[in-house]
Amino acid sequence: MNFQRAFFLIIAFTVLLAGSTSIFYGCKNFSGPTETTTTTTTDTTIITPVVTQPVTTSSVICFSSQVLPLLQSNCGMSGCHDALSRRDGYDFSTYQTSVSRGVVAGNADRSAIYTITVSTSRSRMPPSPYNALTDAQRAILRQWITEGAKNTNCSPTACDTSSVTYARTILPALQTYCVGCHSTASPGGGINLSTYAGIKTVATNGKLLGSITRQSGFIAMPPSGSLGSCETSQFRIWIRGGALNN
Ligand code: HEC
Repeated sequence: MNFQRAFFLIIAFTVLLAGSTSIFYGCKNFSGPTETTTTTTTDTTIITPVVTQPVTTSSVICFSSQVLPLLQSNCGMSGCHDALSRRDGYDFSTYQTSVSRGVVAGNADRSAIYTITVSTSRSRMPPSPYNALTDAQRAILRQWITEGAKNTNCSPTACDTSSVTYARTILPALQTYCVGCHSTASPGGGINLSTYAGIKTVATNGKLLGSITRQSGFIAMPPSGSLGSCETSQFRIWIRGGALNN
């Protein structure tokens, strides 16, 4: 037994003893704390669940609302990794196609779709002139893969339509769904949605609402997928309120 393993087992055994009362008391299948025997032979079949149990309580990333739009708007531009172009076999149009290549569930550091976004070499994706993913976007991608790259579709929380602001509501939604294709460096259709001025222009001339509500006479946005009904209402409220920089 090497030192690291011995150290791990000692720590794990300590956690087992210390946590046995608090962790196991609520567990139906456990007959009581007395089962944590005083024997010094460490049994990994007992230890493993105790060590891994607390990790599962953190929030779970929603693939449908947090990851898919991020992949579609930053990687799924026409000519890149949309269903038609499928450059290098990567296609981020659906869950199935998104996980079919470059994803090792549970291990972001071995998942090409993550590592390529943090690469400092010229092969970084999205490539210049597109912007790199932000740290927050990389963290979402990483956590989703770490959590098993599952097709999670979280039940929507109540839609907040009473405290809609540019900073809290509009900007984050645009960053998730739109800015990959509408940044300063690569403004699709000449439209830059990474600055307030650029957003205000399309909010005022009707193109923002026209495109996200897919009205005739406008080009439907985002090109694949769509904003949820909650986000659409929030955009409508913010625009009606004067599209303020609040
Ligand atoms: C995958 C890339 C991509 C994504 C994601 C995307 N756009 Fe676009 N958008 C484009 C391109 C390219 C054009 C120009 C299309 C053309 O001229 O044919 C465009 C055009 C537009 C227009 C002009 C529409 C019109 O009728 O003139 C608006 C407004 C717009 N986008 C807003 C958005 C918003 C808001 C989002 C996010 C909800 C979004 N886009 C997401 C690529 C994208």
